[in-house]
Amino acid sequence: MRVYLVGAGVISRTHVEAAAKLDVDVEFRVADVSRAMLDDFAAVYPSIPTFDGVDEMLASEPAADDDIVIVATPPFAHLEPTLAAFASGRHVLCEKPLAMNVAQAERMLEAANKAGKLLGCCSVRFRGLPHTETVKRVIESGVLGELYHASFVNKWFRSRSGIEYQPQSRWFLDSSRSGGGVLMDWGPYDIATITDLFDPVSIDISGAFVARPRTTADPDGVVFDVETAAGASLSLIDGDGRRLAVDFQRASGTQGEEMFRAELEGTDASLRWKAFDSQAPVILRIDRGDGVVEEIVDPEPREPYSVFDYPLFHFTNAVRGLANRANLGERAVDHFRWIRAFYDAAADGGTHRVSFARASA
Ligand SMILES: NC(=O)c1ccc[n+]([C@@H]2O[C@H](COP(=O)([O-])OP(=O)(O)OC[C@H]3O[C@@H](n4cnc5c(N)ncnc54)[C@H](O)[C@@H]3O)[C@@H](O)[C@H]2O)c1
Repeated sequence: MRVYLVGAGVISRTHVEAAAKLDVDVEFRVADVSRAMLDDFAAVYPSIPTFDGVDEMLASEPAADDDIVIVATPPFAHLEPTLAAFASGRHVLCEKPLAMNVAQAERMLEAANKAGKLLGCCSVRFRGLPHTETVKRVIESGVLGELYHASFVNKWFRSRSGIEYQPQSRWFLDSSRSGGGVLMDWGPYDIATITDLFDPVSIDISGAFVARPRTTADPDGVVFDVETAAGASLSLIDGDGRRLAVDFQRASGTQGEEMFRAELEGTDASLRWKAFDSQAPVILRIDRGDGVVEEIVDPEPREPYSVFDYPLFHFTNAVRGLANRANLGERAVDHFRWIRAFYDAAADGGTHRVSFARASA
């Protein structure tokens, strides 16, 4: 299989490392607008051909049916390479967040459908981890009773992309290049995880806020206009019209307490875990007769893949027609709609509903 990387930055390297673990041989090519980035990349992976432009790379050889283009540039540069890749007759796996806005995401999907090729999003990175599969198993067992409330709170004190994390990539801080802050950065994983766990047909977002707490480490002389904290009340609606209330918070910078907590309350028991930490236990809290006890739930087995391997693993399986957890087509676009609807809800204080395509779940 051939994989064409657009962008020779941090995340492209993880896709190259991921390919080594797959049961299919992958040949890479890479394009970047920066010769310096290509030279750095070539120093680590000297056998991978480099190109100074996307069009030049895509035109360098005829497309094969299973060719994949991974768009691994900042969000402002997701649309054009994606359209060029589909026009060249190749599948596209796009880094998260899918696009800058919903109109762009829809153009991507339209191009995919026209080309008869798959559009996937790397937001699938955290799906299939043992603790999440464990939570799904407990939910399915019915031991929790009727579900009525969940907390989904992930707040770092200081882990802002472009400042504490990957400070060389200042584009994270500039909304004209990133499309937004922590919601665009982590929201794709949050919504992929929430829909994986609860499979809602729609979500109402209300009471939303976005904020940018000030710190003494804020950089001078660079555009920094994105939020680093966000939250909302989510109401997840299932196929039978039942609602689950979710307290959602996500922050890469907060003046509050650092906190990573996912808790699901049912009428018979509750479950708590750390949403993105597969080493932390999943704890069942239940009344066994002598009072409430806490029990660590046996975890599902761990697969030999890391969160950096999953996007390519699932997408190559999808391209090959194998079972997969890829986030594809309409569903990938709907997930992205949720992010933009969140911003809309924060801006106007209203309730915004997003519905989810189920066909490619
Ligand atoms: N860094 C991470 O940990 C991480 C994790 C998951 C996902 N992502 C996502 O991956 C994408 C890329 O992030 P990154 O951290 O690798 O960024 P980066 O800053 O390390 O690299 C981005 C690269 O894209 C290149 N580029 C910009 N415009 C281009 C264009 N039009 N054509 C070709 N190349 C272009 C830049 O020159 C640069 O080399 C983003 O969407 C990001 O959200 C990053």
